[in-house]
Amino acid sequence: MALQLIPDPSLAERTTLRLGGHAEVEAVLREASDLDELGTFLTRHTLRPFVIGRGSNLLARDGRCDIALIRAAGQPGPTRVERSDEGLVVRCGAALALPGLLGWAQRAGLTGLEGLTGIPGTVGGAVAMNAGSYGVEFGQRVSRVRLWSPSGGLTWVGADRCSFGYRRFAVPDLPAGRLIWEVEIVLETSTPRAVRQAMREVYGKKRTTQPVTARSAGCVFKNPEGDSAGRLLDRAGMKGMRRGQMAFSDIHSNFLINLGGGTSAQALDLIELGREVVKTRLGVTLETEVII
Ligand code: EPU
Repeated sequence: MALQLIPDPSLAERTTLRLGGHAEVEAVLREASDLDELGTFLTRHTLRPFVIGRGSNLLARDGRCDIALIRAAGQPGPTRVERSDEGLVVRCGAALALPGLLGWAQRAGLTGLEGLTGIPGTVGGAVAMNAGSYGVEFGQRVSRVRLWSPSGGLTWVGADRCSFGYRRFAVPDLPAGRLIWEVEIVLETSTPRAVRQAMREVYGKKRTTQPVTARSAGCVFKNPEGDSAGRLLDRAGMKGMRRGQMAFSDIHSNFLINLGGGTSAQALDLIELGREVVKTRLGVTLETEVII
């Protein structure tokens, strides 16, 4: 199948915050052989490649963005690969939605990912950001990752070569900027009922502490060592603060939400205000998650 190239893709239409202008092009991959064409395309153009996934955890700027969005579509769902000493190895395409993987694991009675209930991104995004919540980090489950680059092609990299940190993934002996194509994780055997119960508990907690149905990109600032950015923003008086149609959620101050018709400029203004007020009042410097 041929690589599909979509000119002028809207970032607002592709991100959960519904913000941002347009990228130069979107390359849609349907199977591994499309990667060769992507390699040729990327070596001919000087665009920065950016894997968009399901557009969560992203704040895209207004105006034109000099990037090539990359999106994999139609990759196979999860499959059981083998039983190892630690549990059952499950393989899936990086473009699979994380909630889809969690739903599959629940039906199969496999435990290990329940803490990530309610995170909306892709499996590849969960690797790239080492998605974490309620004591679970995706990286803890990874046994190997299949990475791609135009010069190196596809290659499996074992967890022993990967470095997972707080919202961070790297393979120290490889250059950065590789596309995550497939992932293998290890899950343990439980029952569908027990896994469903654990997922319900996590979702119940999230529903009362996070704005789960609002248009947001999850937490906008990383947590500083030993503290919570949400708590600090709250203490600094930022809860519910608005700029135009963008606001810090009044449920959880570290969630920036689009009330409808917000702009990236308003979002960036609010982020700078939050950062400045927390620095001045509490002496802590906050760092943002992903902005493109
Ligand atoms: N808090 C406040 N006011 C607020 C928000 C929080 O006082 O507006 C207090 C809470 O009462 C609690 C403490 O701050 O005592 C921590 O809050 P919470 O349990 O909600 O955790 P968090 O540190 O704010 C982190 C992750 C979330 C993840 C939750 C649950 C980051 C930046 N945030 O939030 O991840 O879902 O823990 O494990 O690491 C994300 O990364 O996008 C994200 C949403």
